[in-house]
Amino acid sequence: MAVNLDASRALRDAFGAFPTGVAIVTTLDGNGAPVGVTVNSFASLSLQPPLVNWSLNARSPSRPAFERARVFAVNVLAHEQVELSRRFGTSVPDKFKGVAMRAGLEGVPVLEGVTASFECRVVACHPGGDHILFIGAVERFAHDAARPPLVFHAGAYRAVGDFLG
Ligand SMILES: Cc1cc2nc3c(=O)[nH]c(=O)nc-3n(C[C@H](O)[C@H](O)[C@H](O)COP(=O)(O)O)c2cc1C
Repeated sequence: MAVNLDASRALRDAFGAFPTGVAIVTTLDGNGAPVGVTVNSFASLSLQPPLVNWSLNARSPSRPAFERARVFAVNVLAHEQVELSRRFGTSVPDKFKGVAMRAGLEGVPVLEGVTASFECRVVACHPGGDHILFIGAVERFAHDAARPPLVFHAGAYRAVGDFLG
């Protein structure tokens, strides 16, 4: 179906037809304070070498921290972590208050209780329209297959549904 690309609500809804997981991407700012944003733009990019990518809104208050950072961590949320997703999906102060985490690569915050985490070194950063695309090389990762992931589809949080084979 042809779409009117000016109809951004309709385009958003069409983009939202693609189900994704939900991740919080974290780093440290220039003062060593933790920074994190909820994203569903995360994707695996390459196995050899291991690369991932995600995109950040160019207007995000977190942009300066991510642009200067040499490392970031992608924390893939488990389905019981909806509240964390909401918290890191808004511009609130003290996002990390009470959040269980450990220091990963170069001190980057790695959240506890997640389904998977990828500690990455930034290898590229490209403008992409109203977003900035970050590509990272995975230096460490962890995966807890016993924790089902959080799913985002059509603007709503969901759990993984039926197994279709
Ligand atoms: C499920 C979900 C997915 C999101 N995906 C992205 C994304 O991929 N990129 C992005 O820049 N913002 C995304 N956001 C919005 C940011 O999380 C939000 O703008 C947040 O306020 C950014 O943090 P900051 O304002 O502290 O910079 C998403 C929000 C939610 C709830």
